[in-house]
Amino acid sequence: EPTRLWGGRFAGGPSEALARLSRSVHFDWRLAPYDLRQTGAHARVLRNAGLLTDDELASVEAALAELGEGIASGAVQPSPDDEDVHTAVERELIERLGPLGGKLRAGRSRNDQVATDFRLYLRDQVAAIATEVVALQEALLDQAERHASTAAPGFTHLQHAQPVSFGHELGKHVQSLARDVDRLHDWVERNAVSPLGSGALAGSSLPLDPESVAKDLGFHSAAANSIDAVSDRDFVAEFLFCTAMLGVHLSRLGEEYCLWASTEFGWVRLDDAYSTGSSIMPQKKNPDIAELARGKAGRLIGHLTGVLAMLKGLPFAYNRDLQEDKEPVFDTVDQLLLVLPALTGMVATSTFDAERMGAAATTGFALATDIAEWLVRQGVVFRDAHEIAGACVQECEKQGKDLPDLTDAELAAISPHLTPDVREVLTVAGSMHSRSALGGTAPERVAGQLGDLRGDLVEA
Ligand code: ARG
Repeated sequence: EPTRLWGGRFAGGPSEALARLSRSVHFDWRLAPYDLRQTGAHARVLRNAGLLTDDELASVEAALAELGEGIASGAVQPSPDDEDVHTAVERELIERLGPLGGKLRAGRSRNDQVATDFRLYLRDQVAAIATEVVALQEALLDQAERHASTAAPGFTHLQHAQPVSFGHELGKHVQSLARDVDRLHDWVERNAVSPLGSGALAGSSLPLDPESVAKDLGFHSAAANSIDAVSDRDFVAEFLFCTAMLGVHLSRLGEEYCLWASTEFGWVRLDDAYSTGSSIMPQKKNPDIAELARGKAGRLIGHLTGVLAMLKGLPFAYNRDLQEDKEPVFDTVDQLLLVLPALTGMVATSTFDAERMGAAATTGFALATDIAEWLVRQGVVFRDAHEIAGACVQECEKQGKDLPDLTDAELAAISPHLTPDVREVLTVAGSMHSRSALGGTAPERVAGQLGDLRGDLVEA
């Protein structure tokens, strides 16, 4: 006889088609450790309410501990007849405790149980993901520090724009990831609210103590509105936004790596252990990790939009649609915990070609802005300075040479303001060093930025 939590008023069991559709235990089993923790906290509240004796509580806690070990080792598995994780856990407890196991659902519904389990689960996963993001930040920082003084072309519109420190380029990824880590930490604080005690939707007539159960489970407070508590999935959508945004950042890092590793750029050499070959072209060495990081982002964005679409028309309070919130979250966690360590390894083992980047830094007339800004310092109106620097570029294009190669006479012919002193800014190093205000690409500034980031990581 399969264990169902709701057989009483039904003449027969569910059809096979319904049972198959309804079943969630094959994916929500990963909430089992959290269902046990929650059950322990609930049992303590029942004892405080006089609904369990001290001896009964001791038996329940012993059974929960034993069951926890069985679940952790894999010895305990859900049965195919269990509808969901809550059903499976109750069945296991009744097998160990007899009728006492049936007392523990008093005052609880799967509606408040599942919302509680899911918050507990996500709190742990958020911590695990944040740890992996910090590891990636460390790998990026190590490389950035190595290349704080390495000049590289900086791009806008994927066209050479101005020379920048390559450490500055890598530092920008550490910055965006720092926002992701911040968001994850905020998520934990904002969502430390316990739904347990809300029951199906209306709270409980039993003398339970939602505040004490909330504290027992490490939440800041218990939910103030039982109807909201069982139907609120903001914490899920918010988690999926945090992870989609993180995915977008990983994707942009991945895209840059793909460019950098291309034959045309040739800026980075990937370690053999972090690149793949081709089944037909023997020479190939492909940046698959970077590509998968880029690809996974689409999937993570899909999970966010899927859950938001599922939520948008839902009436209050609990509706079974809400069961669809699990798989997108589980997949998000799984994908991130796969891709983050791979990216970290790829970054940590990369070799950047500083010479090649430096040589490319001057090409594309990347010093034109330096001429314009030098003219401004000589008192020329920027609008005119921009025109003059543009005329220099035109002259170079005509002659097939670069800005530093213009002769004194050619410069003077373009504008009397262009004295030979302009040459002081016509080097990549001069250009980089001149951008020394906060946030700029001057190597000393970059070193300061990287030091601050490193300090924040140590604190985190
Ligand atoms: N498995 C459900 C979920 O994930 C929880 C059970 C609530 N079921 C119910 N019939 N009220 O949302």
